[in-house]
Amino acid sequence: MVFVMERLTAVSDMKAWSRALLKQSRTIGFVPTMGYLHEGHLALMRRARAENDRVLVSIFVNPTQFGPSEDLNRYPRDLEGDAKKCSDVGVDALFLPEASQVYPPGFQTYVDVEEVSRPLCGASRPGHFRGVATIVLKLFNIVAPTRAYFGEKDRQQLRVIMAMAVDLDLDVEIVPCETVREADGLAMSSRNAYLSPDQRKQAVCLHQALLEAAGLFDKGERNADRYVRTMSQRIAQEPDAGVDYISLVHPETLQALTDVDDAAVAALAVKIGDTRLIDNMLFNHRSRKIQQT
Ligand code: PAF
Repeated sequence: MVFVMERLTAVSDMKAWSRALLKQSRTIGFVPTMGYLHEGHLALMRRARAENDRVLVSIFVNPTQFGPSEDLNRYPRDLEGDAKKCSDVGVDALFLPEASQVYPPGFQTYVDVEEVSRPLCGASRPGHFRGVATIVLKLFNIVAPTRAYFGEKDRQQLRVIMAMAVDLDLDVEIVPCETVREADGLAMSSRNAYLSPDQRKQAVCLHQALLEAAGLFDKGERNADRYVRTMSQRIAQEPDAGVDYISLVHPETLQALTDVDDAAVAALAVKIGDTRLIDNMLFNHRSRKIQQT
């Protein structure tokens, strides 16, 4: 029998699909995406495949999480390529909603996750996490997933969604998944497609800066400024790199640290030419290992 992955566009069809499964006590693993899928997304789908009866992927380039001068209109798209990748990893259904159904005329309700949205990307992309939290909550309401999978490369997004799930008593398990990297360490991202070959080489500086910070943590460095200085020096070696932020933060609150104790996250956003890339790494003495996420 040939396996055919379903494609759903109407919100009502999506709800009917998930409610029928829930009636049969089937679990649904959900991977929300904006498409242009790469190995990082596929790793989330494989994990969802292993842990649930059914796997659903949404592809929706969400306008409310882009600022007016950001890349909404040029965000890369490849629907047929994405569908093939999903089908190959055993996804059961794709949800491809239209913006006009997600945000119909008169739409006026947004979700603001306050504290954890403010620093890092929240400071340089005002309104971004409001858009993310709003679309993710809407998708959760439509899809009613048992588990939802998010990459740790977008650690602040993950923290925002986790806080929202706790604060609003959502009935979904949020599953964090390790960052997937290219062979040279660059974190996988749909936006890597914007880089020229020369910029692509320079982009490895984000991961290298994080590895240098990991070296300081291994040696027991406690002064957060020293981490920031070391990472800044590495980024400054690349001619097309411009720093948006480099910071050492608490792993849960994401507030900037001055002294480093048992655990910290080094996080950075760097523009390589016009392309803004983010990455982070969790350092944790308690688990006695550096988690390269
Ligand atoms: O990480 C993303 O691709 C997006 O922010 C998400 C979670 C799909 C919401 O639009």
